[in-house]
Amino acid sequence: MSDLPRIFLTRELPPATMKRLRESSQLTMSHEDRSLSKQELLEGLQDVDGLLCQLTDTIDDEVLASNPNLKVVSNYAVGFNNIDVAAATKRNIAVTNTPGVLSDSTADMAWALMFAVARRVVEGDRFVRGGNWQGWAPLQYLGLDISGSTLGLVGLGRIGRAMIQRAKGFDMRVLYWNRTRMEAEEERKLGVEYVELDDLLAQSDFVSLHVALAEGTKHLIDERRLEQMKSTAYLINTARGPVVDEKALVRALQANTIAGAGLDVFENEPQLEPELFELPNTVLAPHLGSATIATRSKMGELAVENCLAGCLGKRPPNLVNP
Ligand code: DGY
Repeated sequence: MSDLPRIFLTRELPPATMKRLRESSQLTMSHEDRSLSKQELLEGLQDVDGLLCQLTDTIDDEVLASNPNLKVVSNYAVGFNNIDVAAATKRNIAVTNTPGVLSDSTADMAWALMFAVARRVVEGDRFVRGGNWQGWAPLQYLGLDISGSTLGLVGLGRIGRAMIQRAKGFDMRVLYWNRTRMEAEEERKLGVEYVELDDLLAQSDFVSLHVALAEGTKHLIDERRLEQMKSTAYLINTARGPVVDEKALVRALQANTIAGAGLDVFENEPQLEPELFELPNTVLAPHLGSATIATRSKMGELAVENCLAGCLGKRPPNLVNP
């Protein structure tokens, strides 16, 4: 009988990750390309040492309790709000994530949304495809310049920092708000200014969200905060949907109290507030922040590394338990 660790995988991953998993573990997996129900998770978790799951799987205490021999829950994502980490910690189960490798792709996605919404790329595409274009016109689909404008970063972890590099290339003024402020010297080096959240919202042309979803950040951007934004400003969210009160956002977009939004994440994925579909000043993407071939493969490497280490009783490289 093989003494390789027994791992349950909730969804197929890129080929290189699958190969590594098959070579280094006794793998069982779901062949459904969707989030698993609680029942499916409970069944899958029987007789395994480790779980390799996705942000679409809810790993609560009941799931964790179903297998007293479970050693590790390895999330194939940097965010881990889908896992009850406190419950896992109490049960001595390691929880891990995949930080770092997706910062550039996620920042690129935020940039793609900024361009798409501020330069009205999607509206223009629909217009052309609809056969409506009669030729160049001086007042057609006017947008907002990204170059030279002010970017407000809400949260300054790895992805927030990747945003700074890009902003510098576009001569932007960069404001940031974060739980902890950087040393003055570092701010100077990076060329960024720390401001309170209210001031950031009032001054930025683009407000881009880069905080993790935790108790203190749910609906961080609510009705009151949306009202603080300039009527010409855009909200970009590649972090987590519940950071924004989506109903309040719809009202702000309908009333044009902000200029538009570029959204890669939603409060109740894959459901969206239905009014969002009707709003021309909104670009919607299906949670694509890390969706490049290279990044998803690197996430796979980390997730497998974490899972194997946890199964073998070693400290996984990307442990998130406190
Ligand atoms: C993450 O990793 O948390 C992203 O949302 C998906 O890759």
